[in-house]
Amino acid sequence: MQYKFKISLFYKILISIFFVLSCNEIKKETIYKKGMVSSAHPIASKVGLDILKNGGNAFDAAIGVHFALSVVYPNAGNIGGGGFAVYRLNDGEVGSLDFREKAPLKSYRDMYISNSDDGLTVDDKKSKIGHLASGVPGSVDGMVKLYEKFGSLDWKLLLEPSIEMAKNGFSLTDKQSNSLNRVMILFDSINDSEVSFVKEIKWKENDVLVQKDLSKTLERIRDKKRDGFYSGLTADYIVNEMKKGDGIISYEDLNNYSSIWRKPIIGKYKNHKIISMAPPSSGGIALLQLLHGAEKLNVGNYEHNSLEYINTIAEIESRVYADRSTYLGDSDFYNVPIDDLIDNKYLDNRFSSIDPSTKTPSNQIKEGNIQFNESEETTHFSIVDEYGNAVSLTTTINGAYGSKVVVENAGFILNNEMDDFSVKPGYPNMFGLIGGEANSIEPNKRMLSSMTPTIIEKNDNLYMVLGTPGGSTIITSVFQTILNVIDFNMGMQEAVDAKKFHHQWLPDFLVVEKNTLNTNLNENLKKMGHKINERSSLGRMDCILIENGILEGGADKRGDNTALGY
Ligand code: GLY
Repeated sequence: MQYKFKISLFYKILISIFFVLSCNEIKKETIYKKGMVSSAHPIASKVGLDILKNGGNAFDAAIGVHFALSVVYPNAGNIGGGGFAVYRLNDGEVGSLDFREKAPLKSYRDMYISNSDDGLTVDDKKSKIGHLASGVPGSVDGMVKLYEKFGSLDWKLLLEPSIEMAKNGFSLTDKQSNSLNRVMILFDSINDSEVSFVKEIKWKENDVLVQKDLSKTLERIRDKKRDGFYSGLTADYIVNEMKKGDGIISYEDLNNYSSIWRKPIIGKYKNHKIISMAPPSSGGIALLQLLHGAEKLNVGNYEHNSLEYINTIAEIESRVYADRSTYLGDSDFYNVPIDDLIDNKYLDNRFSSIDPSTKTPSNQIKEGNIQFNESEETTHFSIVDEYGNAVSLTTTINGAYGSKVVVENAGFILNNEMDDFSVKPGYPNMFGLIGGEANSIEPNKRMLSSMTPTIIEKNDNLYMVLGTPGGSTIITSVFQTILNVIDFNMGMQEAVDAKKFHHQWLPDFLVVEKNTLNTNLNENLKKMGHKINERSSLGRMDCILIENGILEGGADKRGDNTALGY
């Protein structure tokens, strides 16, 4: 195992200034030999690349990229949210870290339900926007835990680029300026203090976004690691912010937060080993279920994105999401029947009713019969270092710009992850996902996630590192990207670029990307009973394929995503 690397101190200065000076040189070439970073933003990828080039390992780069995204990609990059990291060391050891947010101690099951003339009403605005929407953030603790176990460079060095960019600003891309313009009014209405994302005239491309308060928070994290966030000044700022808006995150919540090393979910698909995230993410279990269905029904024999292919995949997906809604939640609080849900016999039976030429109405699909013994903004990055270690990390504040609450004096956005709980059995969350007891709100419980950071081995070697944002569509985008490579022999970029579609059982819609279906296919799917819902895009993948010693990046052109290597 060679994940540690000693470094001389002069790199400290080198990294912090080099990335800013050379951001203009970023190119979108995606074939490299030694190391690679694919992330949602070119500057964040550049920060990670510089760390790798200067001898850091994949974990050092992951920490640097995570903090960089908290500055340059505020719609999903964060220190006020949480996520999951799946890793594979160069000796084949695999593992995962859960730094998902937790429900605050003062939370309770029906906290978003009130009595009204019509009976019990869900006030789901409160789980989506404002102070009550936030879970206790896990990202900073997650980065510190990753560092303590695997980091090799100086911790301070990993944060320097992010502090620099927050303090002196960075240039917005066209997509970012548009995105900020869409939420400025909301930011203004939720926050009574000045927010760096709001200005009098509209944002435009190349405007410089400066986040002074955020830079000071990052400095505290640089100097005190965990204590720079969960106690001291930052904790004071968070608790004061809570008081302003009836929020419930307390000092005790912050002090108690701890991320957890978890055994990843491991399975097989056509002689490939799949390593993905365990509960409280539904991603790993659902992905293995989907891949089982794909293998059983030989979907690779159909023409890619043909009528039979789309319908068969949609049928598999519906059944998997029906199971998700009933059985999945935080396994520390609810007995998630993990082994049963990925049992071969169970899955053979689960998918046996599928007919490629027929659509089953969703109201005829129920969860499978398990015998008990007793989301759309998120961001993903993939990293491979020159020593052969890989990190697949997905992180989120849930919706775009989370709860829209910016912690006064601390300059970061709080998540709206409480909406990922089932706020009432059968009541859809912002992604239309429904749930029940398994994912009900309880103090300290982690809300169910769809994040699916995944690593794949072929012939015992590292083969693919992948993941994406997209709320409920994360799992199906990862699934279809895997099929694109393994069954349809696409390269990584081609597999990422390929049009995606999604079915999540309820609501009973087939979600397709624009320009996926020709008129004929559209009509034939409708004749089968599909209700088609078009979206401008699905997923924003960041993936790496490793074949014959070559790294190929797949950075989604649907966003500003960029794969950089050397
Ligand atoms: N917040 C999206 C997810 O965790 O699935």
